[in-house]
Amino acid sequence: MSKRVLTTESGAPVADNQNSATAGVGGPLLLQDQHLLEKLARFNRERIPERVVHARGSGAYGYFEVTDDVTAYTSADFLNTVGKRTETFLRFSTVADSLGGADAVRDPRGFALKFYTEEGNYDLVGNNTPVFFIKDPIKFPDFIHSQKRDPFTGKQEPDNVWDFWAHAPEATHQVTWLMGDRGIPASYRHMNGYGSHTYQWTNAAGEAFFVKYHFKTNQGVRSLSSDQAAELAGKDANSHQTDLLQAIERGVNPSWTLHVQIMPAADAADYRFNPFDLTKVWPHSDYPLQRVGRLVLDRNPDNVFAEVEQAAFSPNNFVPGIGPSPDKMLQGRLFAYADAHRYRLGVNHTLLAVNAPKATTADNYGRDGLMASNAYGRDRKNYEPNSYDGPAETGQPLSAPLAVNGHTGTHEAPLHTKDDHFFQAGELYRLMSAEEQARLVANIAGGLSQVTRDDVIEKNLAHFHAADAEYGKRVEEAVRALRED
Ligand code: HEM
Repeated sequence: MSKRVLTTESGAPVADNQNSATAGVGGPLLLQDQHLLEKLARFNRERIPERVVHARGSGAYGYFEVTDDVTAYTSADFLNTVGKRTETFLRFSTVADSLGGADAVRDPRGFALKFYTEEGNYDLVGNNTPVFFIKDPIKFPDFIHSQKRDPFTGKQEPDNVWDFWAHAPEATHQVTWLMGDRGIPASYRHMNGYGSHTYQWTNAAGEAFFVKYHFKTNQGVRSLSSDQAAELAGKDANSHQTDLLQAIERGVNPSWTLHVQIMPAADAADYRFNPFDLTKVWPHSDYPLQRVGRLVLDRNPDNVFAEVEQAAFSPNNFVPGIGPSPDKMLQGRLFAYADAHRYRLGVNHTLLAVNAPKATTADNYGRDGLMASNAYGRDRKNYEPNSYDGPAETGQPLSAPLAVNGHTGTHEAPLHTKDDHFFQAGELYRLMSAEEQARLVANIAGGLSQVTRDDVIEKNLAHFHAADAEYGKRVEEAVRALRED
């Protein structure tokens, strides 16, 4: 077998990959050393901007298999036959820290799933938490600023974290969730995934339903205590990555069972909770879980940068039979992601293998821009309508139209009969075992007691009191004890 020859990027053979060219032995370098210049210049460009949130993550390929008939609720092609399989790519992530951060931290986890369906890619960009901290996207940049590194101190600041929450009573539910046992998953395999938002499904007859997605881990939910996590994060900052990579390499393929909660569209207006409020769940007693299928991850990416760092998920990548709900947070996200991708990866990011459709091909009139390829061939017109049999619209909306009324303006989300900021947080507290309640209280107090301003502490305590009198009292006592230490 002939030996493979090392080449420059333009394919010319490289004579020496150990010594750069110099003017005489021991002399300065020569500008004509193309191989050296190319190597150093390329190296300088090996990084792209990290994701502004969810920077640190791990990904894997797999498939989704339909196990139950849901055609009464959605016409989505990839869900239309029991036994049907669709290729998927899932990226898990932590949220607040930067690319080099540790995995074993108290933070929500991202659960971003791409279904490569025959009708285009469907992205379900969720978290491991069924709710979120805020309910209006206009607060998102402020929220994230308060959770990430402070611009002056260069580190995460309890003062900022809790000051934001002091002004966001609607976060009490998610804060209770995050500070509880599930706040630090043992690994990406041992946590559930949730679509969190309410989405719309439309069936073949054009009837609309509202739907929430729940991916239940088949590995069992396992979590770390704050102390276990601190130790693990110090020993192996990449603990989630190691776990996922090695499990799949060993053939121990993780899986999740997808269930949905389905609400007939006509129920939405009078439901006791605003069904489009991301800080609220729908109790299962109101809308029980219905099984849909199984998600299996069975293949690691070949190249983490190409396939995980450059993966692009967007909540507005829908397929026929699935669409958005009026959830304001979701609506904000419909803009934010593709915009982030255009900045982070460029306008042609959908041509990258991990992002391109796999079970169908994209066919449209978008052309050119940075890193364009010749995907559309020489004689394909780049305008529409045309007389050359170019692709044309279907006239079929992806999902059913929803009625709207009222006046434009900066409205607060409408309150339904049982809506307040605290009731569901209290329900979550009351659902926990005595031991979990004790750990929850200790975790909150551990963070809140580090806050330097009394008024910020008081405002947060008031939220826990409002959720449940006992919960509030216990957090208050624990914070006081730690501050007196
Ligand atoms: C209005 C609220 C939100 C805004 C504006 C927002 C914005 C963003 C942006 C700009 C990114 C980086 C995208 C990239 O560079 O590829 C991102 C990533 C992500 N967000 Fe959000 N986000 C919001 C709320 C949420 C919520 C509620 C969830 C979960 C239910 C979520 C889940 C994720 C996930 C999983 C990722 C990482 C995706 C990946 O793995 O590439 N976000 N978000």
